[in-house]
Amino acid sequence: MVPLFPVGGGNPNTHSAFAIPHFKRGDILTDNLIRKTAQAISRSRKVVAFTGAGISVESGIPDFRGAGGLWEKFDPAEYATIEAFLANPQKVWAMLKEMGDLLESSRPNAAHRSLARLEEMGHLRSVITQNIDHLHQEAGNKRVIEYHGSHKNLICIQCGRRYPKEEVKFESLPPRCACSGVLKPTVVFFGEPIPWGAHLQAVEEARNCEVMLVIGTSAVVSPACDIPVLAKKAGAAIVEINLEETALTGSVSDWILKGPAGRIMQAVMDRMTGAE
Ligand code: APR
Repeated sequence: MVPLFPVGGGNPNTHSAFAIPHFKRGDILTDNLIRKTAQAISRSRKVVAFTGAGISVESGIPDFRGAGGLWEKFDPAEYATIEAFLANPQKVWAMLKEMGDLLESSRPNAAHRSLARLEEMGHLRSVITQNIDHLHQEAGNKRVIEYHGSHKNLICIQCGRRYPKEEVKFESLPPRCACSGVLKPTVVFFGEPIPWGAHLQAVEEARNCEVMLVIGTSAVVSPACDIPVLAKKAGAAIVEINLEETALTGSVSDWILKGPAGRIMQAVMDRMTGAE
């Protein structure tokens, strides 16, 4: 039984989240893998993308465990657990507000746009994302499973009333409900359950896909990191796109395209559409 509470945390990776390494076009191995990935996607109408924070780094949003990532600046034990939020909502809201302003000013990058195009072309069935930034929807994907929730809504921890973020005033922190209860974003903190509907949909998608594109995740947080394993067990080809190897590489992934997701996905799209 897959535990439904995000656990794990992993150690900071060695790469810098913002210094995007030069993506070597013309590198024979890379070009062969780009061609192989384009071929696998072109032949399937059951592709599923599983994404993590790395897909949004080229949109200016730091990841969590990379150098320069969020957990270097904010200790997850003090800011990312439900216990920490309930103990000191004002302190956690200071981080949430800073992150929220950054998310509001961020836009989809070429990787997000490529996945939206693949859905339009009929190859991509869904995106299962660990991200709360809503960039897949903004890029145009219609079927997005937000495994760790979304920053676009808030919920009162006292009466359960929900508010769209744009209806909430942030003059003082923490923001409060009409009942005076503290409001919390509808994101999954460590120690909270995964939204049951999102989990069931993600498992269903993983078990029925032919190709899973695993983009920008360190794959260290459970139960999300079990999703690619379920797809593998169901016989799907697992294609990783990441700056570096992860816990999935060599055991779950069939191949890894190493480099920035935006440029790699653009190269795959160019190959598929003959644009290159
Ligand atoms: N292109 C591709 N991959 C990238 C890029 C990029 N431009 N930048 C970073 N990466 C990779 C890193 O190498 C790393 O493997 O993205 C991954 C990001 O890993 P994490 O920071 O651990 O983010 P993620 O896997 O999404 O974390 C999972 O942990 O803290 C919780 O709830 C939070 O949903 C999050 C979960």
